[in-house]
Amino acid sequence: MSVDILLGLQWGDEGKGKIVDVIAPKYEVVARFQGGPNAGHTLEFDGHKHVLHQIPSGIFHSNIKNIIGNGVVLDPIIFKKEIDGLAKFNINFSKNLFISKKAQLIIPSHRLLDLASEKNKGEGKIGSTLKGISPTYQDKIARQGLRVGDILDKNFKIHYNTLLDIHKSKLDFYAFDLSKDLTGIKDFEKYDFDFKKIEADFFAAIEFLKTFNLVDSEYLINEELSKGKSVLAEGAQGSLLDIDFGSYPFVTSSNTTAAGVCSGLGVAPSKVKEVYGIFKAYCTRVGSGPFPTELHDAVGEKIRQIGREFGSTTGRPRRCGWLDLPTLKYSSMLNGVTHLLMMKADVLNDFEEINICTGYKLADGTITDQLPYDMVKESVTPIYKTMKGWNCDLSPYKTFDTMPETLKSYIKFIESETKIPVSVVSIGPDRTQTISKL
Ligand code: GDP
Ligand code: IMO
Ligand code: MG
Repeated sequence: MSVDILLGLQWGDEGKGKIVDVIAPKYEVVARFQGGPNAGHTLEFDGHKHVLHQIPSGIFHSNIKNIIGNGVVLDPIIFKKEIDGLAKFNINFSKNLFISKKAQLIIPSHRLLDLASEKNKGEGKIGSTLKGISPTYQDKIARQGLRVGDILDKNFKIHYNTLLDIHKSKLDFYAFDLSKDLTGIKDFEKYDFDFKKIEADFFAAIEFLKTFNLVDSEYLINEELSKGKSVLAEGAQGSLLDIDFGSYPFVTSSNTTAAGVCSGLGVAPSKVKEVYGIFKAYCTRVGSGPFPTELHDAVGEKIRQIGREFGSTTGRPRRCGWLDLPTLKYSSMLNGVTHLLMMKADVLNDFEEINICTGYKLADGTITDQLPYDMVKESVTPIYKTMKGWNCDLSPYKTFDTMPETLKSYIKFIESETKIPVSVVSIGPDRTQTISKL
């Protein structure tokens, strides 16, 4: 059968975890193809709230094989914590969870390097989640990273120490440029990140990881496909954080777009069918970088409070702003989106009017609906269309046909601009708060 993809069209946190969980029963396999513990995917059902970082969001369905693909970077310590946190939910991990031997390992010094790099950038910092994502992908591309399969090698500790030595010399380099309060980082062992303790946790977590299904996941997925099973690829982050197409350099270090599925799972493009593109009825961003429709006023604060816009992974307040159609069209184009899924419509229940950005005015006066080459340097002023808000509680609405006309008009406008159907409207964090045509 085929692979469907579900991914974020904005700067992450669109609600991917919720929707994977909702549509998972249609699939036999759910697989993560990129990213790592920088992700925080929230699922709510039966009065429980779960935030998953590395484990695919199909894990609560007992008939689904969940795969952590080769394109992922895996932190064994966080993995162990996540599994321990799920202990009371009777999940059969030996039947339902598979980890690619080719996924890259995040080791403790990757996290230090992330921190050192960010401190070194000063004002220009990316706003990384400090989970070691960029240093781990750097080692992968430099062909010196450690992979999950390496933990089965009796010389793993030697390989680990070789990589740690490289990291120590890099940390020395950063110490050269670091501001005074960070000079401690030069003395690796004494830095207040308790390295010895974290290293001990790491090796305990490696032993724990060895007890799971470590597989050649590209074979597993393709075998499932040839048996007629269907696969859902679960994106992490969002298209505007893609290493190639995001607002570089304020991006993450992987291909978050549909292309990442083929390399991150080992499936051919011809196997891909539907692409579900998730977006919020407004926009948010955590970390630094351009955000044309960002609101620095009371309206932005109102969205943040009602939408509980605080990071699932770091707890940082998310920056909030109006829906931005140029970026939505750009992301939809890059991913070949076949269905749009609009999340958190309920957050705008209390607005009489809603703005929607239809284009940008550039510094030279040009009006465009395309993203400029350098969103960081180019001054971009959003052009807004103001629409009537639905201004009511959406919870009684169960179908598209019966929705308030104002919400229908908002959706119709998005559909006419993107030329893609909106097939889901989410009106609350719970599984059941979903209006769907899928
Ligand atoms: P992800 O990273 O894309 O999976 O998204 P996050 O889990 O980081 O952030 C989405 C947040 O919005 C979570 O707290 C969800 O529980 C919540 N959420 C998802 N859908 C809705 C919705 O339709 N309405 C509201 N109010 N909250 C939602
Ligand atoms: P989910 O999957 C929102 C952001 C960080 C930072 C930039 C680089 O939950 O949507 P990194 O740690 O990857 O080096 O950080 O990317 N970022 C996210 N923002 N949701 C995420 O994941 C994110 N993962 C990374 O805030 O700006
Ligand atoms: Mg998230």
